[in-house]
Amino acid sequence: MIELTPSQRLLMGPGPSNVSYRVLRAMSTPLVGHLDPEFMAIMDQVCQMLRHLFQTQNQMTFPVSGTGSAGLEAALVNLLEPGDTAVVCVHGVFGQRLTEVASRCGARVVNVEAPWGQPIDVQQLIETLQKHPQAKLCAIVHAETSTGVLQPLEELGAYLKGQGTLLVVDTVTSLAGVPVKVDDWGIDVCYSGTQKCLSVPPGCAPITFSPKALEVVGKRKSKVQSWYLDVRLLQKYWGSERLYHHTAPITMIYGLYEGLRIILEEGLEARFARHRELSARLAQGLAGLGFTFLAKEGYRLPPLTSVFPPQAELVEPLRKKLLSDYGIEVGGGLGAYAGKIWRIGLMGETCRAQNIAILLDALGREL
Ligand SMILES: Cc1ncc(COP(=O)(O)O)c(C=O)c1O
Repeated sequence: MIELTPSQRLLMGPGPSNVSYRVLRAMSTPLVGHLDPEFMAIMDQVCQMLRHLFQTQNQMTFPVSGTGSAGLEAALVNLLEPGDTAVVCVHGVFGQRLTEVASRCGARVVNVEAPWGQPIDVQQLIETLQKHPQAKLCAIVHAETSTGVLQPLEELGAYLKGQGTLLVVDTVTSLAGVPVKVDDWGIDVCYSGTQKCLSVPPGCAPITFSPKALEVVGKRKSKVQSWYLDVRLLQKYWGSERLYHHTAPITMIYGLYEGLRIILEEGLEARFARHRELSARLAQGLAGLGFTFLAKEGYRLPPLTSVFPPQAELVEPLRKKLLSDYGIEVGGGLGAYAGKIWRIGLMGETCRAQNIAILLDALGREL
């Protein structure tokens, strides 16, 4: 076996994004134990920085050990019991994944759908919620990575605030790239992933539970079927008791700590503005080369632009060439759009003017 020497890539796909040297350096520092007082201080600081990022006061805010899908499962397995009703919005692959996991929890799933590339119609969703007032939760993806659509949430959150139905939101591709206001928008459970706009390697899923959500978990008739993701067991490790549950991925938490420090140094508003302004620049450059857009105008997600390349027959060959000849990774389509679109990420560290210039220059030469 030879020593690993992975290529330098410009990661302009749907995640992972490029990671700064500061994060990589933090991840190469010595291990302490997962119950070491030094590590506990780091855990507390990570939770505090995550609260800032989620814009929440929720005490139960922490990183789940596992990728974004572990955050998704943690949200649903804790809230749903067999026989519950779950209203789940589907306008892309990750709404489908929410549906799949909710049904595996034994819930009766009521889907509200929108064509891929369009946001969910909030009025239609509210009408469905009115028909199912007993629904335990409503789950929706804020940033649909399969289409590049940003879903507005304020109106839905305002409607659900006085209701018994909990609001669960997937912010895997939005957190730290666009505003996510958990408390203002009345979100009860919100989860994300580290490898997108946080620019930390994949491996943790930041999550936050409102007191109302924890109350619902506390009233369950049955045990949470996943021991590993049971929030009330995890609370004993991440909260003041510090009781061993599982061995925390210490090195990942170091990386997350440093990634969060970088985000806070930049400031959330400056970071959101950077994503907004540079994605507009990328869109302009792509339009100039003949690309057209999948996501409906007004609902495009700054960290991820989904486009139809000008020549359909070049979609996959040119994407492969970008990787082999230029070291640039852009994402292909998923589901119905496999082989038809590209998904170009401008997330966190990757979201820099020079990276846009490098991509547009390569495309200019090749097209
Ligand atoms: C919106 C969304 N939800 C959930 C996930 C699942 O995250 P992971 O692949 O890290 O498990 C992803 C991953 O791309 C995503 O984009």
